Amino acid sequence: MIQHLTSPQAAQRWCKKIRKQHKTIGYVATMGALHPGHISLIDRARAENDVSIASIFVNPLQFNKAKDLEKYPRDEASDIKQLEIAGVTAVFTGTPEAFLGEARNKTTQELTDPGIYAKGLEGAHRPGHFAGVREVVSRLFSFVGPCRSYFGEKDYQQVQIIRQLAETLPGIEIIPCPTLRECSGLARSSRNLRLSEQGKHQAGIIFSAMQAANALWESGVRTPRLLQSAMLGVLNEGKIELEYAELRDPINWTGKQPESDLKQARVFVAGNIEGVRLIDNMALSAGNQA
Ligand code: PAF
Repeated sequence: MIQHLTSPQAAQRWCKKIRKQHKTIGYVATMGALHPGHISLIDRARAENDVSIASIFVNPLQFNKAKDLEKYPRDEASDIKQLEIAGVTAVFTGTPEAFLGEARNKTTQELTDPGIYAKGLEGAHRPGHFAGVREVVSRLFSFVGPCRSYFGEKDYQQVQIIRQLAETLPGIEIIPCPTLRECSGLARSSRNLRLSEQGKHQAGIIFSAMQAANALWESGVRTPRLLQSAMLGVLNEGKIELEYAELRDPINWTGKQPESDLKQARVFVAGNIEGVRLIDNMALSAGNQA
């Protein structure tokens, strides 16, 4: 039976005991609305550690629009059930006061700067979002003290910001995990719950666009503008309200798309279908399917 710890402070005490037994802790942070992507993170946390723990907390600091926070799907009982079926040792939940303390009253400008990977793309379209993510994750890590923590690569900028945060915290390894996709290629996300079947099918265009860029990359093209055009050619044919379709050098991150040819590249897309905001990304490489 899963252990439900009803505050982060209770989780902190529980994790301290586990660490005293010299057991390894694998941690998955979530905002609930669990889907198979989360369960794949849990599976890895279980496989690679003695004990696994998850958290469910919808962090108000990372929503730059009050309406998005309001609309965020919440069903704690069903999420805990799913975690139990997935075999997690423990889960913790709690109030914004318990998770965030005084930080819950701060503006995102008052929080720690999340660093270079917050520049551009999601950082530009969701001002303050990454400062809110960094704040909560640094608190979550201080409660759990995990050996390993697992994050989905769908949120690529988030993973890089958390990886940089973990470099300042000894003993925590960040494990980026591949994006899980539906048959249409649509990346699994809690937001997909709000799409109709038709919408999910239409959203497959995001994956097709990224594949078009990858096909060009495989043929030897390295110029960001040309690779971007391949994506736009596909996206312009679909029913997506596009926010961006751009490339970045994942190692030498820049706020804007680079102009000169790239040695390594990742494509990033964000857009709205049926009023649901979807994001995705993919590394460009020979033989890439994901
Ligand atoms: O990816 C998420 O679900 C959230 O951003 C996280 C990492 C749980 C922080 O609230």
